[in-house]
Amino acid sequence: MKKIMIIDGGPRKNMNTAAMIEAFANGAKSVSEEIEAKTVRLYDIDYKGCRSCMACKLKGKPSNICVFKDDLKPVLEEIAYADGLVLASPIYMGETTGELHSFMERWTFPWLSYKDYSNNCPKHMPVVAIYTMNASPEQMDFVEKGVGMSEWIIQNTMKDFTRICACNTYQVKNYDRYEFAPNQAEVKQAWKDAHWEEDLQKAFDAGKQMAEKILA
Ligand SMILES: Cc1cc2nc3c(=O)[nH]c(=O)nc-3n(C[C@H](O)[C@H](O)[C@H](O)COP(=O)(O)O)c2cc1C
Repeated sequence: MKKIMIIDGGPRKNMNTAAMIEAFANGAKSVSEEIEAKTVRLYDIDYKGCRSCMACKLKGKPSNICVFKDDLKPVLEEIAYADGLVLASPIYMGETTGELHSFMERWTFPWLSYKDYSNNCPKHMPVVAIYTMNASPEQMDFVEKGVGMSEWIIQNTMKDFTRICACNTYQVKNYDRYEFAPNQAEVKQAWKDAHWEEDLQKAFDAGKQMAEKILA
């Protein structure tokens, strides 16, 4: 079996990010029964970002996997030797969610040796980032520039990095309940009708591509 780990950095279980993840997983699994796509929901587990305990940099026994004991530790150990990774998040304040960012600190900081600044990532694997956001394609140059330093580290480490974005998402199930601009429901519905299936297809295709790459 080949394992794709999917890290869901969004809080909502049934909305846009979750739907993109499901499409990706279905695409990956459509290729072969040899593909396992396992989703971990960060909002369901108890952890914090890096505490700067420096245990990963101890003299004589450095570790390239975070050693801090909490609910994230077994997930990080599983990811370290997975065959592919998906990082999914709604965009909050122009960035990934805080939960995904905290995960990134725990995942990537142990790779870096302070002795010689080498990068000791345990295993290189294809990584796909899935972002969903309110911004339109014209407004999302902040994403094109790279969502923060952590994405830059992954791109440079893994080399095989793809980003998929679903823009202008349908943010709430019932626009009448909330204080949006008067025509928001219609505008969002029109965008959804024109683009959402295409976005899901992009996620499905990316899942297929990752699975094919892993099995090749
Ligand atoms: C706290 C918060 C901050 C947000 N910040 C942004 C933002 O900076 N840019 C943006 O395009 N959308 C922003 N959004 C919208 C979400 O990214 C968008 O609705 C996303 O698709 C929600 O994902 P979900 O349906 O999986 O929860 C924000 C939403 C929330 C709740």
